Amino acid sequence: MRHFLTLKDFTKEEILEIIDIGLDIKKNLASKVYKKELENQTLGMIFEKSSTRTRVSFEVGMFQLGGHALFLSNRDIHLGRGEPVKDTARVISSMCDMVMIRTFEHSMVEEFARYSKVPVINGLTDSYHPVQLLADYMTLVEYGVDKNIVAAYVGDGNNMTHSWLMLAAKLGFELRIATPKGYEVNPDILSQALHIAKDSGAIIKTMNDPMEAVKGATVVTTDTWTSMGQEEEKEQRIKIFKGFMVDDKMMSLAAKDAHFLHCLPAYRGLEVSEEVFEKHSEIVFNEAENRLHAQKGLMVWLDRQR
Ligand code: CP
Ligand code: NVA
Repeated sequence: MRHFLTLKDFTKEEILEIIDIGLDIKKNLASKVYKKELENQTLGMIFEKSSTRTRVSFEVGMFQLGGHALFLSNRDIHLGRGEPVKDTARVISSMCDMVMIRTFEHSMVEEFARYSKVPVINGLTDSYHPVQLLADYMTLVEYGVDKNIVAAYVGDGNNMTHSWLMLAAKLGFELRIATPKGYEVNPDILSQALHIAKDSGAIIKTMNDPMEAVKGATVVTTDTWTSMGQEEEKEQRIKIFKGFMVDDKMMSLAAKDAHFLHCLPAYRGLEVSEEVFEKHSEIVFNEAENRLHAQKGLMVWLDRQR
């Protein structure tokens, strides 16, 4: 049995296999096999933070594969009132066939997985957002740029950045990360990625100049400057991140026909300009839809491992 907590635990071949299953399901959803692939299975979904895409894509995805999903908000279950993670894990995993968790500390999903009898999926922690990167990579495959990725991430060194680091390290592409001083990626995660990159041939560079990062990039991406849980820092962050908005001037330095990705929700006028967002909205909303397809690939893959 496998869990999906970070891309670090997966080989390049496994990541590509998950994407391939997702793309196949996207093409052949009507097939009898996929409609019954997770028949009679239940996905428990624990949310300690808000969500639009993750909740809808997992719930709809499970339904489309013949299963059922349970939305468990920490406002409603005893986890939010102090029932220990390890007890919650033993109870929920004795009744559900798979569990997805969105929470704060990454150690919470690790602890849950240690006590779980069924596969656990990380639906976002403060440290990583790996299911988003499955959808992002699937989108790059569909747009035919997966063989020529020079990615530039501009903004906060957060859960999305850490997952980009792991994806680049595993798949072996070039990733430049530009953050303001003091908002760099976690140095431990960076050093793990650099270690993995030695084998894959990935080129990973971190810097504080966004213009340098986007020069010649084929993919430019960003994320909110204020992640869930950091709301009190919002005003201060807006001041510090000045100069990090992905706008037309910045995009003009990227490769001709460079793609822009955003995990959403997007805040126009902060991490991305209205013009850049709308110009690239087709790929961004395909990226959002691919959450559904990539995660179906993931759930099928995890189910086949046991
Ligand atoms: N990108 C993403 O995970 O969106 P939600 O927070 O809406 O789930
Ligand atoms: N970094 C953002 C991602 C939202 C999908 C957050 O954690 O809030």
